[in-house]
Amino acid sequence: MYKVAVLPGDGIGPEVMNIAIKVLEKIAQKYSFKFNFEFADVGGIAIDNHGTPLPENTIKVCENADAILFGSVGGPKWENLPPEKQPERGALLPLRKHFNLFANIRPVKVFDALREACSLKDKFFPNGLDIVILRELTGGIYFGQPKSINPEKTEAVDTMRYSKPEIERIGRLAFQAARLRKSKVTSVDKANVLMTSVLWREVITKLREKEFPDVELNHMYVDNAAMQLVRNPGQFDVIVTENMFGDILSDEAAMLTGSLGMLPSASLNESGFGLYEPIGGTAPDIAGQNIANPTAQVLSAALMLRYSFKMEEAAADIENAVAKTLEAGFRTGDIYFSDEGTQKVNTTDFGDKIISFI
Ligand code: IPM
Ligand code: MN
Repeated sequence: MYKVAVLPGDGIGPEVMNIAIKVLEKIAQKYSFKFNFEFADVGGIAIDNHGTPLPENTIKVCENADAILFGSVGGPKWENLPPEKQPERGALLPLRKHFNLFANIRPVKVFDALREACSLKDKFFPNGLDIVILRELTGGIYFGQPKSINPEKTEAVDTMRYSKPEIERIGRLAFQAARLRKSKVTSVDKANVLMTSVLWREVITKLREKEFPDVELNHMYVDNAAMQLVRNPGQFDVIVTENMFGDILSDEAAMLTGSLGMLPSASLNESGFGLYEPIGGTAPDIAGQNIANPTAQVLSAALMLRYSFKMEEAAADIENAVAKTLEAGFRTGDIYFSDEGTQKVNTTDFGDKIISFI
């Protein structure tokens, strides 16, 4: 019996979460075990129902669970609240901090059936695309103090701060991940301008010398990395970078998979406890219409099986079912480009297809 805290959140969150839960139930049935799903409010819906984006009870539900399955938070309705009350700053970031989820793993894989949806021409990735972005998630400019805006709203400050242990622990995961893949790490920084990046580069370099001399390492400035991702994405294996750079580069990389609706993520702490969420947002413009792409949420559930529950076979089963759904020609609107051999379906039907292939 696995206990999962389910936090659907706002916008398309509940619709795509609904599919992920159905997929997990099918998996539980197939592999003869049980999930105990405990739902809790987070983000805008929590503001509406409880007056705060991250209620005490929601934290408790998460603390009592073996893993957290997260949807997405935020939307126009809550955009004008004071910053600390907004869903993103008031719920998602504190939740990551509370559980010390410093390691954000964002696998970027192009499904063969979706090569035509990639924003690049085929010739730029002849051997397919399989990148892992490791984003530091609890430090850097998103959390550094001081962070404020003056009452006159004429000046504001954010602080970028990193310590050696913070860089080492994410670096270590990157080298370990690379060893199981093509053994190549690209560390992304801005060491020609930022002091945090000078430290970052130094710590990563020494870490490799000491513990991972067998892994290839190269350093890249973030502006160059952004360019290389669309010029020659096939050169990357594991990318490791600080919080803000990872946030930006992973959205860019997501488009290489065809849609922001395709990319899952896992956020882990040092003891392996994890929160699993799609990297895209709440997509308020299409929320409630049953047309969103549930793939990122479903693949996030697969990552939960892989990392939290060590169920590699079941995780791969879900990933295969998604691949088969795409191969059979089914597409949600965001990845539908022509009716030649493909068929546009809604969220529920796409989910049912995935389930049918498990
Ligand atoms: C992400 C999101 C969040 C982030 C936002 C919603 C705070 O963009 O997970 O990438 O910036 O970390
Ligand atoms: Mn982001």
